[in-house]
Amino acid sequence: MRASDLLDQTKLATPDAAVEPLLLRRWSPRAFSDQAVSEDDLRTLFTAATWAASSYNEQPWRFVVGRRGDETYERIFGCLTEANRGWAGSAPVLFASFAKRTFTHNDQPNAVAPHDTGAASANLAIQATALGLYVHGMAGYDAPALRAALEVPEGFDPVACWALGYRGDPAALPEHFAQMERAPRQRKAIAEVVFARWGQPAW
Ligand SMILES: Cc1cc2nc3c(=O)[nH]c(=O)nc-3n(C[C@H](O)[C@H](O)[C@H](O)COP(=O)(O)O)c2cc1C
Repeated sequence: MRASDLLDQTKLATPDAAVEPLLLRRWSPRAFSDQAVSEDDLRTLFTAATWAASSYNEQPWRFVVGRRGDETYERIFGCLTEANRGWAGSAPVLFASFAKRTFTHNDQPNAVAPHDTGAASANLAIQATALGLYVHGMAGYDAPALRAALEVPEGFDPVACWALGYRGDPAALPEHFAQMERAPRQRKAIAEVVFARWGQPAW
């Protein structure tokens, strides 16, 4: 078995129920390879994002995409926390997600805009898995700086930054990140998060 396959094996989720394999294979790497992501694949990924459900079909999500070497990439990278800059620069694509604050049909606040933007990003992550690609979300960024750097208009809020690409060699990472890369993934038990009544496990 190749080292990269072994790592995916370590990262494979171990659910108690028969979950769709594509969902189990997704994980968030910090080591990305140099291989570029094709424009066709990028279009497929963001098309998958747009097919997410959203309240009133508002589709409040917006994305700004940078490829390594372009100005958008540098601007997004420059807004990341120091910790995230320690690994995210290996990704060939960085993008940022934004949510429109109000509904278009009545100008009222859309409280679920970040939720729906997250759903779109989750769609993208699953589509990425299907294409052999990986994404890694980042809340560690300077939101006002990102807003300014990407000239985001009033009415839209930053939600997250994302690294995207093919998986790379963990040995290329600083040791503390390399250790995280090799650690098995963990989840709370379903009994801790799904209730029949608050605090009473549904199963
Ligand atoms: C919106 C969001 C923000 C995140 N922020 C960061 C971050 O700033 N830095 C980081 O290293 N990982 C970040 N993560 C990655 C999570 O730590 C990771 O998804 C979690 O540990 C579960 O691991 P898995 O995605 O491999 O299942 C973020 C993930 C999401 C979805």
